[in-house]
Amino acid sequence: MPEYVKTTTQGAVALLTLNRPEVLNALSVELMDQLIAAMEGFDRDPAIHVMVLTGGERVFAAGADIADMAEASVVDMMQRNNLARWLRIKVIRKPIIAAVSGYCLGGGCELAMHCDIIIAAESAKFGQPEINIGVMPGAGGTQRLTRAIGKFKAMEVILNGRFLSAQEAFEAGLVTRVVSKEQCLSEALRLGQQIAERPPIALQLAKEAILAADEMSLSAGLEYERKLFYSLFSTEDQKDGMKAFLEKRKPTFHGR
Ligand code: CAA
Repeated sequence: MPEYVKTTTQGAVALLTLNRPEVLNALSVELMDQLIAAMEGFDRDPAIHVMVLTGGERVFAAGADIADMAEASVVDMMQRNNLARWLRIKVIRKPIIAAVSGYCLGGGCELAMHCDIIIAAESAKFGQPEINIGVMPGAGGTQRLTRAIGKFKAMEVILNGRFLSAQEAFEAGLVTRVVSKEQCLSEALRLGQQIAERPPIALQLAKEAILAADEMSLSAGLEYERKLFYSLFSTEDQKDGMKAFLEKRKPTFHGR
């Protein structure tokens, strides 16, 4: 089996690189299985605190693999149930930073939106062009894009298949930061290293609470946040973090 996802680590940051350049990193079943296995492995590895996901300088990903689906019937699609595996990305606990250069379309855009921070190169183009091939987004695009940029912009992007430039995506709230193509990955890794120095359990619970904001009412979300906050007082990292502040020294976090 070809290596559709390359992985390396730099300290507590894992780098995952999509690797199907001949079809613009189209997200085949095999690629998605490799990606999810790698993410789940890093999620379980206590030495890794943050993941960075990229597709390389030319393209992030041009969507689900159209060749895999072109001849499928509705029964085939339901039996394969390929999109259900995306739920496994949704429950990854560690922060994931997407470094997006070039096309970030369809399932590629949905993949970036499963990440927690999006660093975009000026060359990035975001879109949900499924409408042009007779379908619509199927891995969360109608929900996550709408939450990120609002109903009226999402309608134009999804109904008309229009691409957003990196700058437009930034202004609309889809992108965290826009940088040059040359800086995109290094900036994502730099940010990853910074975040990786923070207490790992607090990072994971903060991510969980932010994601819960999409699912909960404000009062339920506030209650949930408060419980998570209190639970952090059972960690050594809280004890040392607060003590270190009072003693005017740098804390040492161990993820315990
Ligand atoms: N699936 C399969 N193959 C793809 C692909 C995809 N999503 N996107 C690109 N490719 C292949 C092309 O078929 C082509 O292969 P050949 O060289 O064998 O012909 C190769 O990648 C290069 O692509 P192009 O020649 O088209 O490159 P371009 O620079 O002219 O255009 C592009 C780039 C605008 C991104 C164009 O490739 C494109 O429109 N791709 C499809 C985008 C799309 O519709 N994505 C949504 C897919 S459906 C989906 O994602 C559903 C979901 O919600 C989960």
